[in-house]
Amino acid sequence: MTGQEAPYETRQVRFVDQLSLVATESAVSASRRFLRVALSQWQAALIEDDVLLIASELVTNAVAVTGVVAENPTWDELRRLGLVHVRLVGLRDSVVVEVWDVSDEPPRLQHVGRDSEDGRGLLLVQELAARWGSYRTTGGKAVWAQLAVRPPLPPLPQRPRNERRGSGAAAPPGPGIAFLRHVRVGLGRAL
Ligand SMILES: Nc1ncnc2c1ncn2[C@@H]1O[C@H](COP(=O)(O)OP(=O)(O)O)[C@@H](O)[C@H]1O
Ligand SMILES: [Mg+2]
Repeated sequence: MTGQEAPYETRQVRFVDQLSLVATESAVSASRRFLRVALSQWQAALIEDDVLLIASELVTNAVAVTGVVAENPTWDELRRLGLVHVRLVGLRDSVVVEVWDVSDEPPRLQHVGRDSEDGRGLLLVQELAARWGSYRTTGGKAVWAQLAVRPPLPPLPQRPRNERRGSGAAAPPGPGIAFLRHVRVGLGRAL
């Protein structure tokens, strides 16, 4: 699912973290580091892998379109560099990763052949995000992806002390309902 507007209203926002970078290749690794810290601060570390993959694709695209990808850019090229803003927006049970750049051209999902290496970035974003899209901003656009935040697993229930020591004749008790619920939640996530 895609959209042409921000996927939230201001009153729904619980937190925003933002990093502004110049559009060079190092923006990709810098955004990953920034998001890792931001996600752990906001108790959203469980979705870190997907957020980092998505951010890498979106920032790579922003740099490709508005920045300098040369290894040794000239001073003149550097003077014309655009800015890229990476934002993590926290909603009630989801986060939105946004990458703002200075081009007003919207991203275009490509239909690629099986062997093509190019044109897969947005397909990956579509695969990992609950929904994604882009919207116009003053001076450019933002490309965004929204992911559900999974609550952390409940702690494993502890057996009472005397059962752990073993009381002799009695058969060991079967798994409790809390333990089975824990397994079910874990399996649901793995599928
Ligand atoms: N931030 C962006 N600004 C403008 N166009 C974009 C942006 N991101 C992606 N696009 C367009 O969408 C196309 C598909 O992007 P993607 O799926 O990442 O594949 P690739 O980057 O390999 O071309 C790009 O080739 C480009 O034309
Ligand atoms: Mg790409």
